[in-house]
Amino acid sequence: MRVSINAIKEMKSKHEKIVMVTAYDYSTAKLVDEAGIPLILVGDSLGMVILGYDSTIPVTMDEMIHHTKAVVRGTKQAMVIGDMPFMTYQVSAEDALRNAARFMQEGGAQAIKLEGGVTVSATVKRIVDCGIPVMGHIGLTPQSVHQLGGHRVQGKTPEAAERLLKDAQALEQAGAFAVVLELVPAPLSKLISQKLGIPTIGIGAGSDCDGQVQVISDLLGLFSDFVPKHARQYAKLAGSIKTALGDYMTDVKAGKFPTAENTSTMDESLLEELARA
Ligand code: KIV
Repeated sequence: MRVSINAIKEMKSKHEKIVMVTAYDYSTAKLVDEAGIPLILVGDSLGMVILGYDSTIPVTMDEMIHHTKAVVRGTKQAMVIGDMPFMTYQVSAEDALRNAARFMQEGGAQAIKLEGGVTVSATVKRIVDCGIPVMGHIGLTPQSVHQLGGHRVQGKTPEAAERLLKDAQALEQAGAFAVVLELVPAPLSKLISQKLGIPTIGIGAGSDCDGQVQVISDLLGLFSDFVPKHARQYAKLAGSIKTALGDYMTDVKAGKFPTAENTSTMDESLLEELARA
């Protein structure tokens, strides 16, 4: 049985911190699931960390479904949340509902996430009313990066802080089961977390959120050149991978790989016959 939205909401009432991480493929998702992490986000960040786009804006529904299916195949207990890409929920609520349904029917996800507050709350309600759990996402919403003028902390003025609180409350009223707060000042995240009955999941939003989310490539140190301020590298896999690849190349060139243990044999007399024929 997978983690349910009720279990996630219950964690908030028990003051138990909620852990979420992104995953985009079968093997990684299997490791995350085996680690016991309850929430896996198939984030549209895959556009940048997997597909090499320079923002999340070019990501399509088909790309998201492709990766969501792989993550679902790799997991048994985690709730898998599909991230709605740019312009798949903004044009109309009906369009949004159809695309959210694709995540569930084709992708096998158990919930979806979308960016925005008050402006998307009617859409969130429509999707939730049709039985699809929705996670909100406010603060720095990467799909609006050009409108926001870059990846900067949000809600720093009294007006902007009030807007963010209203956004969070609108999402709760619309039926969202949780809301991501990205790049929000810690004291504001604390206030929003206190005001909401549903959990807040922070990224760059301080330790008073009800949970935390990280992009797995940041967490595992898969990028050696850039570590975002809000991330902590729990491993430095980029370095380990480069060392392993260098060792492999050296061994192949030196004839040290493969050895007998990596190789199968056969009766050589059969080969002699073949050679004679
Ligand atoms: O796409 C993503 O990875 C996200 C997280 C940063 C919350 O939206």
